[in-house]
Amino acid sequence: MAKERAQWTGRLGFVLAAAGSAIGLGNLWKFPYITYENHGGAFVLVYLAAIAVVGVPIMMAEILLGRRSQKNAVGAFRVLGQDKPGGRLWQGVGFLGVMTGFVILSYYSVIAGWTIRYIMMAVSGELGSLAHDPAHLQAFFGDFLGNPYQQIVFHSLFMGATIGIVYFGVGRGIERAAKLLMPLLLSILVILAIYSFWTPGFAEAMHFLFRPNFNELSASGVLEALGHSFFTLSLGMGAMLTYGSYMRKQDSVPRAALTICALDTMIAIMACIIMFSIIFSFDFEVTKSSTILFTTLPVVFFQLPGGAAVSALFYTLVAFAALTSTISLLEVVASYAIDELGWGRRRATLTMGVAILAFGILSAISLGGNAALSSFNLIGRSSTAGVFGTLDYLASNWFLPVGGLMIALFTGWILSRDETREELEEGNGPLGWAFPIWRFLIRVVAPAAVGAIIVSVILGAEYQ
Ligand code: TRP
Repeated sequence: MAKERAQWTGRLGFVLAAAGSAIGLGNLWKFPYITYENHGGAFVLVYLAAIAVVGVPIMMAEILLGRRSQKNAVGAFRVLGQDKPGGRLWQGVGFLGVMTGFVILSYYSVIAGWTIRYIMMAVSGELGSLAHDPAHLQAFFGDFLGNPYQQIVFHSLFMGATIGIVYFGVGRGIERAAKLLMPLLLSILVILAIYSFWTPGFAEAMHFLFRPNFNELSASGVLEALGHSFFTLSLGMGAMLTYGSYMRKQDSVPRAALTICALDTMIAIMACIIMFSIIFSFDFEVTKSSTILFTTLPVVFFQLPGGAAVSALFYTLVAFAALTSTISLLEVVASYAIDELGWGRRRATLTMGVAILAFGILSAISLGGNAALSSFNLIGRSSTAGVFGTLDYLASNWFLPVGGLMIALFTGWILSRDETREELEEGNGPLGWAFPIWRFLIRVVAPAAVGAIIVSVILGAEYQ
């Protein structure tokens, strides 16, 4: 008989770990810059709608699949798909998820590694002297990306931290890290938000973010908002499924899903308020919006009192947010190896972690040259920057939407109404009218919306 499955110690542990997965570079880097590119207001509104109508129902679906099956992404589809139409084929969805986790982590950790460099520079004072001249900082950043040795070192450090946490397992590793890092992250964010409130650009930032002007929003912007709602919520590859498999039966899936989505959204909006308030406080031209986080913000930070402290705090925040995301990505791959290949946790974490680290080196060394600097794109739609850009393009344009579509179809059409109802009500109590609404969203609305992303990618729609 296999060992009993690990569990979160309670509701808070699960919610913090899952929110930690969701809140990451997607919130702090990608969302502000795509919001900037899409002119704020209307884009933000569509993004909020996408979270509510597609994100929340799929979040509930993934957690439900995990908790019901008590398995990893592959095992969940095997167990729940048995004797159903499609049968064993559904395992492929889980397998795609595990591979996607492997791929995303390999390049995500490279970017996450940059935060270590920035914390070091903020503390040493180096960042301050670079930031006094935007051109200097830009040149430094270009050199840094083009330095394979440094890229490998910081990527390895970040993977090392990720492996170190996942190694200790669900309770002693992941949950403990989340309980330590998430409150710290929230506190830092609140401090920065209060700070931004007193900057002269605050009013303009609010205006930019919350006054929708639909003439400024393109069709591709709508699809981008939808696609981003997947990435930012860690949906479409079984990350929430895996975390859900450690959830206790007495806790409520719908309530947890709502809390996670609310926290993630709140933090994305706060990140925008902070960054835009600071940016709008100065006559600073954002030349390359995708590098706001690393080339614009430091310049602005150092025009303010306490620049060194603010930037050290800020990059620490980004590093923590990224770390609670990378551990969830590794956990998807590790739990697959543990459940399906019968490996021990330590072997699974070390082997898979090192394999991902090695694979990530391809991304780390492909950032060189100014071509990369001017075209790289974290989760963007263009596939121009070598290995890094190609993997990113594949993962976010193909793997996550296809995975999300399959998860919605499986939960909505393959599982029975009673099965899903039972799992959603377990630990929650009767859902009443909310259940038919969820079921309609997961059967019809979410597949249609996600299908639209996929079709537009196939037709080669311009996104950026
Ligand atoms: N959601 C994280 C972010 O916004 C990234 C992430 C972590 C992720 N785990 C994931 C994305 C699983 C997709 C799938 O930065």
